[in-house]
Amino acid sequence: MTKPLRKVVFPVAGLGTRFLPATKVVAKEMLPVLDKPLIQYAVDEAVDAGADTLVFVTNRYKHAIADYFDKAYELEAKLEEKGKDELLALVQGTLPSNVRAIFVTQPEAHGLGHAVLCAKPVVGDEPFGIILPDDLIWNGQIGAGRKGALGQMAALAESEHAGVIAVEEVPHDQTDKYGIVDAEPVDARSARIRYMVEKPRPADAPSNLAVVGRYVLPGRIFELLEQTEPGAGGEIQLTDAIEALLTEQGKVLAYRFEGTRFDCGNKAGLVRATMHMAMQDPKLAPVVREFVGQL
Ligand code: UTP
Repeated sequence: MTKPLRKVVFPVAGLGTRFLPATKVVAKEMLPVLDKPLIQYAVDEAVDAGADTLVFVTNRYKHAIADYFDKAYELEAKLEEKGKDELLALVQGTLPSNVRAIFVTQPEAHGLGHAVLCAKPVVGDEPFGIILPDDLIWNGQIGAGRKGALGQMAALAESEHAGVIAVEEVPHDQTDKYGIVDAEPVDARSARIRYMVEKPRPADAPSNLAVVGRYVLPGRIFELLEQTEPGAGGEIQLTDAIEALLTEQGKVLAYRFEGTRFDCGNKAGLVRATMHMAMQDPKLAPVVREFVGQL
């Protein structure tokens, strides 16, 4: 993949059942870690990676995501009137002015692969990134000299002319929760994938390297997704199409990113992320420490 990455897809049309009843009306991606919703961390990471076009694959219940990135006329006017410049900058800064947000719908939740395929008309035939916002990957404040996970992967995809998938070591007894790769190490962070298997039992898993929510893939993946038959639960699996890409192109890389991943798709992960971010904040850290001590 010689072209730099410009487009990033956010599949956000899932049902978020693990956060019911909140997710009856609040999109999972709008759940906050301190004062920022998960989707904002994801967008900041995409922009850091060089993206200027963000494609949100959403559903008819998730208007809040579009509203969040839209102009908030009344609120902005009020903040301006009151001279609250810092807050105004926060409200206006959810999306940089040179970046555009495009919304497409996934009419029914037929799986991650199907959600990605819905972005085909916008992405076309060029390399693109995918971020699952419920996997929050924190590598320090963006702009402070450290690249976000997707930016690290985009650089590798460009230099190696290959698709890149983020992986992380998980405890051996948890392989049945993830896509697991068997890969030949290239250097400390990257490895050439030999094959991938979806949610293997620990005894059958070829390794403990799990696929997590970041991908850089060529536009070709869309045609492969179109040919992918529904798999487990009637869902079209992105993993199956990546397997087909691997067979066809012979080279897809697994990449151990620099940063810490919080699986905010479940309650424990969201609590951990919140505690972690609070501990980075000089005002909040002593409060958290004291409160945890009391508990
Ligand atoms: P999850 O497996 O976390 O499912 O999806 P979910 O529906 O969001 O949450 P739970 O398991 O019911 O609590 C992984 C990612 O794929 C997206 C989700 O929005 C999430 O970002 N997704 C999943 C879609 O966009 N469409 C789908 O049909 C399925």
